[in-house]
Amino acid sequence: MPRATLLVPVLLAALPLPGGPRPRHAPQEPGTAATRAQDPTTRAKADDALADAVRRGDVDAARRILAEAQAGTLEEKGGTFRSEMLGAEIVHLPSVFPPHEGEYYVGPFLVDHARLFAGKRCLEIGCGSGILSLAMAKFGATRVVCTDINPKAIESVRENAKRLGLAGKIDARLVSKDDMAAYAVIGKDEIFDVILSNPPYSLDLDAPDNTPLIDKGDLGFSMIRGFERHLARDGVAVLFFNSLFYHQLIVKFARHLGYEVRTHNALGMSPWEFEALFNHYARRVAERERVPKEALTFHHVVDNLPFALTIEMRQFEPKANPLVEGFATGKVYRGFLTVTRKR
Ligand SMILES: C[S@@+](CC[C@H](N)C(=O)[O-])C[C@H]1O[C@@H](n2cnc3c(N)ncnc32)[C@H](O)[C@@H]1O
Repeated sequence: MPRATLLVPVLLAALPLPGGPRPRHAPQEPGTAATRAQDPTTRAKADDALADAVRRGDVDAARRILAEAQAGTLEEKGGTFRSEMLGAEIVHLPSVFPPHEGEYYVGPFLVDHARLFAGKRCLEIGCGSGILSLAMAKFGATRVVCTDINPKAIESVRENAKRLGLAGKIDARLVSKDDMAAYAVIGKDEIFDVILSNPPYSLDLDAPDNTPLIDKGDLGFSMIRGFERHLARDGVAVLFFNSLFYHQLIVKFARHLGYEVRTHNALGMSPWEFEALFNHYARRVAERERVPKEALTFHHVVDNLPFALTIEMRQFEPKANPLVEGFATGKVYRGFLTVTRKR
């Protein structure tokens, strides 16, 4: 059966429940893959409308809402967002990753570690609306450089920096799709005390392009390799991968390169990572069983791959070890890891 014919019944069978704001990393997320990635407020509205259409038995309306969500048109709209962390309203232009996740998931770490940024040179890789860079500037960074591949993200950051009176501190730079390595637009001799990133959290080496959710491999590893040149001797990198596979891989990779890594492991894995990992192994099975690889290819929506595993493995429970020396908050920051040089 062609994928398009398959999609709607599958999605209708797995209708999302109406819910409050739950950014992309939320575990137990029941929404469709398409609606999950959106601005949570918009998404919640779309989920409500979808559930309502199904309750009414209005399949045409349900299909229209799903088609809109699949096409990403809801996310495309952009909007404004009131950030408590910044004490201000910021904008995210159409197509820019909305700031909700930054506020609700990364924000608590930044607030608890606010003095880490005071007087520091900071870099953010993959800044979206700029919510995290604005926070670092607000918490006293002397200078914040931030990068993104989306021109609308760079425009949003500049607009937000102006609104908050932080334009003098924030230098937003566009990364060209021709070279999406982590330090592509960073000068050879630029050094930072803090390097922060909430990067695309799914690794898929077969993906055609990078998106806010998927890294085709250009970003994560080059980010770690570049610490040698761009992270100050006593600097710290704060990374929020928060999808189990990529997070753990980065932990191992950074340790292999000789860095000190502290980690509060992610508890979930994104459906895009499930898809990439399943497909890699499925290709080997297809070859061995001599069937076309398409017959055993997985798709996160069609095959209803989970958004997250709820991992109950005790050995993965981090002790509330501080992620940054001198910041014994006693809290667990799920999905975060920090990298420093060995002392
Ligand atoms: C998960 S979003 C996070 C956005 C923002 N930091 C936040 O927390 O709201 C990841 C961002 O990385 C950007 N991105 C993806 N690949 C990139 C690359 N190679 N270099 C720079 N930015 C990239 C995406 O456009 C997206 O804005």
